[in-house]
Amino acid sequence: MRAVDAVIARHMSSSVPLVGQVAHYIISAGGKRLRPKMLLLVAGALGCDKPERFELAAVVEFIHTATLLHDDVVDASTLRRGRATANETFGNPASVLVGDFLYSRAFQMMVDVNDMHVMQILADATNVIAEGEVLQLMNMHDAALDVAGYLRVIRSKTAKLFEASARLGAVLAGAPQTIEACCATFGAALGTAFQIVDDILDYEGDPAEMGKNLGDDLREGKATLPLIYAMKRASEDDATLIRSAIRNGDTDHLARIGKIVHSTGAIEATRALAAEQAHRAIGAAHELPSNPHTESLINLALQLLERRS
Ligand code: IPE
Ligand code: IPE
Ligand code: MG
Ligand code: MG
Repeated sequence: MRAVDAVIARHMSSSVPLVGQVAHYIISAGGKRLRPKMLLLVAGALGCDKPERFELAAVVEFIHTATLLHDDVVDASTLRRGRATANETFGNPASVLVGDFLYSRAFQMMVDVNDMHVMQILADATNVIAEGEVLQLMNMHDAALDVAGYLRVIRSKTAKLFEASARLGAVLAGAPQTIEACCATFGAALGTAFQIVDDILDYEGDPAEMGKNLGDDLREGKATLPLIYAMKRASEDDATLIRSAIRNGDTDHLARIGKIVHSTGAIEATRALAAEQAHRAIGAAHELPSNPHTESLINLALQLLERRS
């Protein structure tokens, strides 16, 4: 990961000062670096030590960072990685444009790797993420969104980049198609579990640990899984309260809604779906050679169910 950070630092600069300033602002705040970590672990599990793995790990982190810069504008979020968001500090235009810079820088770096299969995976992933964010925009304030509709959004906006990261590790290792498919399943399932847990944390997390504000999803009228399950299980009055909060993006009753989400068992039900996905990921990891890297991949899937940040 130190090697990845070095690649990131080397490619962040620009002759335009504001680009470097905004990019440095969000990247230096850290983040969990989960996607590059996963790419390196998959490559390691399959015995690949090509230096390109560090470049591609940096590429997926750049793409992730670009999505965050854009996502925080779209979501009007004010806190990310424990500090004011880039849009809060530098404004929406700078965030959008530096997001574009990071996307296109990622594409410059992946072209350097000069592998058409790699480019195809990353081009497809980036396109699907954008579709997922637009789909979510279309679903805003829709209190009738069902589990399938919710899963469709998170598979695109979040799981796709995890899937691409894991696949790239396999491609770099020159793994056969069947192993590449296993890695794709691992990444997609882990990414799905990751976003489900993220949506729980929006109701019961600790802003200090998460570095993000709670309640952002409701404010935006996002019907995430905790609310979808709560509406199914709550009394008619409580379900009506939640529906109206989603329709109006109204956080006045956030505390009450949080209580309903808990008392109806919606949190446990949501956790159960995350656990199911994490175990699907673990099942796929068991198809990889048994070694310490594979062990770490399995631990990653287990740890994310417990994550608080
Ligand atoms: C945040 O991703 C966006 C989601 C998909 C929920 P991370 O939680 O991986 O963000 P950082 O990089 O650790 O800040
Ligand atoms: C994260 O979506 C997905 C992308 C950034 C593409 P969210 O909006 O749910 O994530 P947070 O809560 O802002 O990190
Ligand atoms: Mg967001
Ligand atoms: Mg969120």
